Order: sequence, then C-alpha cells, then structure tokens
Amino acid sequence: MQKLIVANWKMNPASLKEAVHLAKACDKTEVVIAPPFVFLEAVSRVLKKASLGAQDVFWNGDGPWTGEISLRQLKGLRAKYVIIGHSERRKLGETDEVIAKKVTAALKSGLTVMLCVGENWDVRKEGKKAAYDFVRRQIVKDLAVLKKLKIGKFKKLIVAYEPVWAIGTGKNDDPADAALMAGFIKETLAADLAAIGSRVLYGGSVTGRNARGFLTLPEVDGVLVGGASLNPAEFKKIVAAGQ
Ligand code: PGA
Repeated sequence: MQKLIVANWKMNPASLKEAVHLAKACDKTEVVIAPPFVFLEAVSRVLKKASLGAQDVFWNGDGPWTGEISLRQLKGLRAKYVIIGHSERRKLGETDEVIAKKVTAALKSGLTVMLCVGENWDVRKEGKKAAYDFVRRQIVKDLAVLKKLKIGKFKKLIVAYEPVWAIGTGKNDDPADAALMAGFIKETLAADLAAIGSRVLYGGSVTGRNARGFLTLPEVDGVLVGGASLNPAEFKKIVAAGQ
C-alpha cells in the first residue's frame, strides 16, 4: 500500500508566492500538505492530488476566541486533516487536557486527526522502557475519547511518533527502533482504547536519503516531514520512497 507523506511547513515559507509555488511542486497523491493558516486558502486552490491539512485547530465552536481558528473554517477551506499536539505546540504550553479537547472536537467534526506523540531526550536516555511508558501515557490521555466513539472513526485517526530529540536536529531515530515504537503504539491503541485500524507515522529529521529506511517497514504507515518538505527536490525523493 502507498504510504502517507505529510508535509508540515510550520511557519514557512515567508510569502504567498513561495507557498503557491511549493504547493504546486509537491502536489502528489497520498500527500498531505499542512501550510500555515494564512496560506491555507491559496494552497487549497492549487492542490489537485494532495490533500490539505492544518497545523492546529481550536476545540470550541464559533465565538469570541481571539487568534483561534475553528473546525468549521478549516472544513470550509476543504481541509481534510489536522495536526494536533505537535511537540512545538506542547513546548509553548499546550497540555494533554487541551490536546484531548482538540482531538475530540476534530474527530467529531469528521476531520482526520494526526496526533503527535514522542519523548524528549531526558526520557529517552533513561532507556527504551521509559520512552514507551511516556508515549503510552500521552496516548491514553490525549485519546481518551476513543473509548466513546464508534469503531469506524479510527480510520480518521493517525498517530505520528515524533521523538522530540529528532525533530529539526538532523538526528533521526533508528528505523528499527521506530518500527518497534510504531508497533507498540498500535498495540496500545488496541489494548487500552479498543482502537484498531489507525495509521502510525514516523517524524523527525526525515530526508530524501533516509526516508526509504522508514517507509519500507510494515509497521510504519508513512512519515511526517518538516524541514525537508520545504525543498521540492528533496520532498519528491521522499514521496518516491513511499510508493
Ligand atoms: P523535521 O520536523 O522533519 O524538520 O525534523 C518534523 C516535524 O516537526 O513534524
């Protein structure tokens, strides 16, 4: 099966013109492009094969929430995916409680949620057991709602394993370790939340050179790409590795 490749542009590029150019260059099937909010509409207009994703969303409906973006607004722009709980947002103070509210609201709205989980280096250096315990705790807290939802919803959930120490550092996880963690995440979803059928991605310093190492693993259903998604030639190599 073709793997899912997600481009998380974060706070890039600087201009609308560059955003449109980049979106056209990366418009492939089984690709999700998550631009900054300000470029969602322009990117939505040019995409023919790729799907549109947002980098965050607010959990409450319409109303007086200065600076926030609603699910209805995202859906109006034809967004199909939303990243929730990225470690860069957690670093800014987003808690598991807030993330759980966002996941719940987004799943109920019909968007596909890409929940990001992963341990920081302090945890990982204690050993793999500590990393597994940490990720399990995040999953159980952030996805508590799954117990109440019907089984069909789980295809609309994706979990991205992104060890924090690998994000933007050029130090990717060992693919064999990422595969074990992806398997563990699927087991946790099934055992603790009765959720089966969700895809698990790896993210953290994925490049054209190392993508195949992750994408050929049966446990890993795709990759979430930050820095390398801003370079069309690099991104094309990653997409090719997933086919
Ligand atoms: P990176 O970012 O590919 O630049 O490490 C990944 C991410 O933050 O999703």
